[in-house]
Amino acid sequence: MFNFTLQKTSGKARAGIMKTEHGEILTPVFMPVGTLGTVKAMSPKELEEVQAQIILGNTYHLYIRPGHTLIQKAGGLHQFISWNHPILTDSGGFQVMSLAALRKISKEGVKFQSHIDGSPHIFTPEKVIEIQEALGADIIMSFDECPPYPSTRKYVEKSLATTLDWAERGKKAFTNYKHQALFGIVQGGIYEDLREKSALELMEMDFDGYGIGGLAVGEEKEDLLRITSFLNDILPIDKPRYLMGVGTPSDLLNNIDRGIDMFDCVMPTRNARKGSIFTRYGKMIIKAARYKDDFSPIDPLCGCYTCTHFSRAYIRHLITMNEILGMRLTTIHSLWFYQELMQMARKAIWENKWNEFLAEMLPTLDRIVQ
Ligand code: GUN
Ligand code: ZN
Repeated sequence: MFNFTLQKTSGKARAGIMKTEHGEILTPVFMPVGTLGTVKAMSPKELEEVQAQIILGNTYHLYIRPGHTLIQKAGGLHQFISWNHPILTDSGGFQVMSLAALRKISKEGVKFQSHIDGSPHIFTPEKVIEIQEALGADIIMSFDECPPYPSTRKYVEKSLATTLDWAERGKKAFTNYKHQALFGIVQGGIYEDLREKSALELMEMDFDGYGIGGLAVGEEKEDLLRITSFLNDILPIDKPRYLMGVGTPSDLLNNIDRGIDMFDCVMPTRNARKGSIFTRYGKMIIKAARYKDDFSPIDPLCGCYTCTHFSRAYIRHLITMNEILGMRLTTIHSLWFYQELMQMARKAIWENKWNEFLAEMLPTLDRIVQ
C-alpha cells in the first residue's frame, strides 16, 4: 500500500509524494504533534483548515493512557480521534527515556515505571510494534534508543548496536505491512562513521523510510546540519527521510536543503500557547506591550482564520488573560504558517528555484519581530 515517489529535485532539496491508506502526502511535509491523540487546542476540522496532511501520535503516551487495546476496540486511532487522514506514530524510544521513571535499558528492551502512577512496564521492540499495529497509524517507527547529549563515543557505539538489533527484531515482528509502513531510525550521535554504519545496516534491512533520530538533543546546530548533510549522500534516494523532532522554520528550510522530506516538532503548537508566534517576519511575542493597541492582524498577508478575523491587540488580551481562545487562535496561525512554508518550499523545488527561495526566506525567520 505505502509508497514514495521522488518527483523533483532542486539543488539537494527534494519534492515527492507519499501514498498511504488514508491519503497522499506531498513532501517536504511538516507533521503537527498530537501526542495524546489530539494536536493541543485543535479540532480535526481546524487541522484540515490549516492544511495539515498528516499528524503524529506517541506510542508511549497512548499505551499508558488510554491504552492501545482500548483504542483498538474503538476501531483504531483514526476512528478514535476522528481524523481520517494519515497518522504517524513514534515508537516510544525517545519518550520512555525522557519521561518514564526508573528506566533500565538492557539488550532485551526497556523496563520502566509509568510517569503517571509508577506502575511497572516493559517495552521491547516486538511489544512496540504490537502496540503500533493496534493503534493502526499509516506510518510506524522502530524502537530505538536515543543517546543523551553529550555521550561518549563508547556509549553511542554500544547504544547503536542495541538500536540496530531492535530494528531487526521489530522488522521481524511486523505483520501488518499490507496496511502500515515501518521506518527504521538512524542513530549514532554526532559521529559520522557511526551514522554511516547505522544507515547502511538499516538499509540492508530494507525499511519503507528512514527516521533520523538523536538530533536536536542539545548538540550545536552545525553538528546537526553536518550529520543531515552527511546522511543525504548515504540514504537511498527513493525512500523518505524523516528528521525527528525538528524544528524552527529556519531549521526546516536548512534541512530541506540537505535532502530531508519530513519533520515533526511541538514548537509551533507549544510556543503558540505561550504567545510566541511564528511568522514570515520572524517570531512575534504577542504579550509585548507594543501590541496593546495594535489593531492589525498578526500577519496582514496571512490567509489563516486568525489573521483574517482578529487583531494583535485582541489576541494579546486573550493570551495575557490565559483564555482558551487565545491559545486556539495562536495555534491556528502558527500551524498555518508552517504548512504554508512547506507549500512554498515544494513550489520552489518544483520550479527549480530552491536556492533563490532559501536566500529570500532565511534572513527574517530567526528574528524577533520588533
Ligand atoms: N523524536 C526526536 N528524536 C527522536 C529519536 O531519536 N527517536 C525517536 N524514536 N523519536 C524521536
Ligand atoms: Zn495567520
